[in-house]
Amino acid sequence: MYTIISYGCQMNEYDSARVAAMLEFHGLQLAKSVSEANVILVNTCSVRAKAEENAIARIRDLKKLKVENGNLKIGILGCMAKNKGESLLKELPFVDFVLGPDEYQKLPEILFSTSHLPLATPHSPLNPFAKLANNYSAFVAIQNGCNMRCSYCIVPYVRGVERYRESDSVLREIEQAVAAGVSEITLLGQTVNGYRYNGLSFAGLLKLVASVNGIERIRFMSPHPRHYTSELMEILLNEPKIAPHVHLPVQSGSNSILKKMKRAYTRQDFLSIVEALRLSNPFYGITTDIICGYPGESEEEFEETLSLVQEVKFDTAFMFAYSPREGTPSAIEKELITEAQKKARLQRVIDLQHAITLERTTLMVGRHEKILLEGPSRRNKNEWLGKTGNFKKVIVPANPNFKEGMYLDCVINGVKGHTLIGE
Ligand code: 5AD
Ligand code: SF4
Repeated sequence: MYTIISYGCQMNEYDSARVAAMLEFHGLQLAKSVSEANVILVNTCSVRAKAEENAIARIRDLKKLKVENGNLKIGILGCMAKNKGESLLKELPFVDFVLGPDEYQKLPEILFSTSHLPLATPHSPLNPFAKLANNYSAFVAIQNGCNMRCSYCIVPYVRGVERYRESDSVLREIEQAVAAGVSEITLLGQTVNGYRYNGLSFAGLLKLVASVNGIERIRFMSPHPRHYTSELMEILLNEPKIAPHVHLPVQSGSNSILKKMKRAYTRQDFLSIVEALRLSNPFYGITTDIICGYPGESEEEFEETLSLVQEVKFDTAFMFAYSPREGTPSAIEKELITEAQKKARLQRVIDLQHAITLERTTLMVGRHEKILLEGPSRRNKNEWLGKTGNFKKVIVPANPNFKEGMYLDCVINGVKGHTLIGE
């Protein structure tokens, strides 16, 4: 029996699903709880100090299970495994092994003393693809690593340079998911729209994915603003299978901070992408990531972020206080913003965004929307949960004909918190 505890981004979730498929190939079954497992893997994130602290606290908590079960093996995977390496074994001596994101093919040898097995070779007789989390929506990684080297970000150091997956393998994984009932695909990569393979661009790949029979909705994350080519814009605005939502990290609204961050675009570049998307569809869902309190960020520069948030009207945003990561260029900056200042700025942007999220959600009332049903609501069994194309949650009254993965036409007639009520 095994269990995998995943922290961080969708790429980690996808990697965990690939490792799960590999463990199941070797005869392990998913445990119902951690206490039942003989193998516990913790897939970690390093993007902010807090992410590492949370994972370490959770791993420390697993020590007591080792006392109860002498056969239990605990492994640390993911970006923190790469970032901290073997030093984790000193800090947490009850942990059996530490493997970074490029080392998962060593797992069978470590766990079952068999030789290396490929995780995703194109002609492998075993299932090389990720275990599906459900039968309606699946993640498929197309690119790994990052060449951007934004000054604050640890990802290029723990995930390495960009590698692109061969398009045939991507399409086969999608076809296999479709055969299991999946109709919504999310293509994953650290800078997903920088994808290129043998002359095929990201836009070209999107076209191929859209031509797979059975695919109804295509999503991707996370794109980088600098890779919005006219070819990409053209397919985004004209291919109806591509869902009208994008998670497009902006990080800051100030050109001077964007430059210090080495983001390779200006506020105006970002706004022109937003303008094109929202001109084609005013309900286009746009979500983002924002960092507050980058070293040297002045009050005026921070206010430019607030004014950008106001101008774009993001549907939602993930907002963070800057966290220095050792080894990144910005970690040696001296002009630090105090924790109290960072917190205060973070709260201001959160308050502004919350009001805008509510405004954008309320705008949906009265609209007819096609939602993808995900299952009964956890809070109320008489309600089902679905998602619109622009990535908003909708609650509808349960119906005995409902099935997970069904598309339902509904009319939005209310809002509860940040969730839409449909009928
Ligand atoms: N401090 C704060 N936030 C960060 N992010 C990445 N690195 C840092 C850091 N050092 C945020 C960015 C990125 C998201 C995944 O995490 O906003 O888009
Ligand atoms: Fe990090 Fe920048 Fe690469 Fe995103 S684009 S993973 S923020 S270095």
